[in-house]
Amino acid sequence: MKAWLLDNFSGIDSLRLAEIPDPKPGAGEVLLELVFAALNPADRYLAEGQYPAKPPLPHILGRDGVGIARDLGPEVTGIVRGEPYVILRSDVGVNRAGTFAQHVLVPQESLVPVPPGWSLDQSACATLVYLTAYQALTQWGDLPPSVVLVTGASGGVGVAGIQLGSAMGHTVIALSRDSSKRNELEKIGAAAAFDPHDPQWRQQVKAFLNGRRVDLVIDNIGGALFSEVLDTLGNDGRVSVVGRLAGPVPEFNTASLFFRRLRIGGVAVGSYTPSESRTAWQAILKTLDHTGAKPLIDRVFEFDQLPAAFARLKEGPLGKVLIAVS
Ligand SMILES: NC(=O)c1ccc[n+]([C@@H]2O[C@H](COP(=O)([O-])OP(=O)(O)OC[C@H]3O[C@@H](n4cnc5c(N)ncnc54)[C@H](OP(=O)(O)O)[C@@H]3O)[C@@H](O)[C@H]2O)c1
Repeated sequence: MKAWLLDNFSGIDSLRLAEIPDPKPGAGEVLLELVFAALNPADRYLAEGQYPAKPPLPHILGRDGVGIARDLGPEVTGIVRGEPYVILRSDVGVNRAGTFAQHVLVPQESLVPVPPGWSLDQSACATLVYLTAYQALTQWGDLPPSVVLVTGASGGVGVAGIQLGSAMGHTVIALSRDSSKRNELEKIGAAAAFDPHDPQWRQQVKAFLNGRRVDLVIDNIGGALFSEVLDTLGNDGRVSVVGRLAGPVPEFNTASLFFRRLRIGGVAVGSYTPSESRTAWQAILKTLDHTGAKPLIDRVFEFDQLPAAFARLKEGPLGKVLIAVS
């Protein structure tokens, strides 16, 4: 099979397309022939050695994908040969070979059917980002209808956060640096979208909320924006920290937490067990049914265009970036 191989941890630029033997499924594993695979910033972090996982090399990146079940290992039950399946968040692409290849082995417990009415490309790019956004929205317990602010809102997690948050009945405010993307985010469920580079954005949010304050922030960005988003929170406000695309927070005064009793909590989609992932995935599909929202695809690249797909991801997409494998 053809696969994109990572030979060292010097970054995405060193990926090479190679011909390697097809893997054979072991007990409880299913061989999928991939149709689409989706990219995530964590693939780049792993390739740069900036990720806790250090899989044996050469490694195949890629955590998300959809493929046809072609071969079943011993003890596999309930999976139908020839049918398409979606990969739930798992060790695929982390500590075991991933989806930037024509075939991948997936533990049976990490496969779910294509959701009714979803296309294969929509299904391929959904599980990791929706599970992440779901954990960010639910890790503080049941929230009554609240004001949720999403940073980096045009990306995979951001779009999922807007769609899930609005389907749960929250008022979702989106931050994006790009005006055309802000318009699109308002069409998919954001009550309003603002430019985090506009020095007036916090005042604009306060004016929009007309006396209310933000209850929960889903933060994908970190950096200097982090202290600014804290400023928009009301009493008992919470921050679900998902990512830090703008790097470390340059200056942080812990006193900013005291007076409104703010709480900050990390999100780790990898902390979901396979069974928790399945339960959360069912809850996600049920929630999305309220509005009919589907994953938003920025662009699908050809299999041999993976480096260009990573360049697009770094640029800042609107939704998910995929490769068509077959
Ligand atoms: N903790 C977890 O379990 C978990 C799970 C999944 C992802 N993550 C992390 O969460 C973050 C977001 O993931 P994603 O898949 O949504 O990423 P993504 O698809 O690349 O989108 C992120 C968005 O953030 C904005 N952005 C990108 N670089 C930026 C920068 N340097 N400064 C300010 N804004 C920037 C862009 O929006 P605009 O151009 O519209 O501003 C971009 O569309 C990543 O760091 C990822 O590794 C964490």
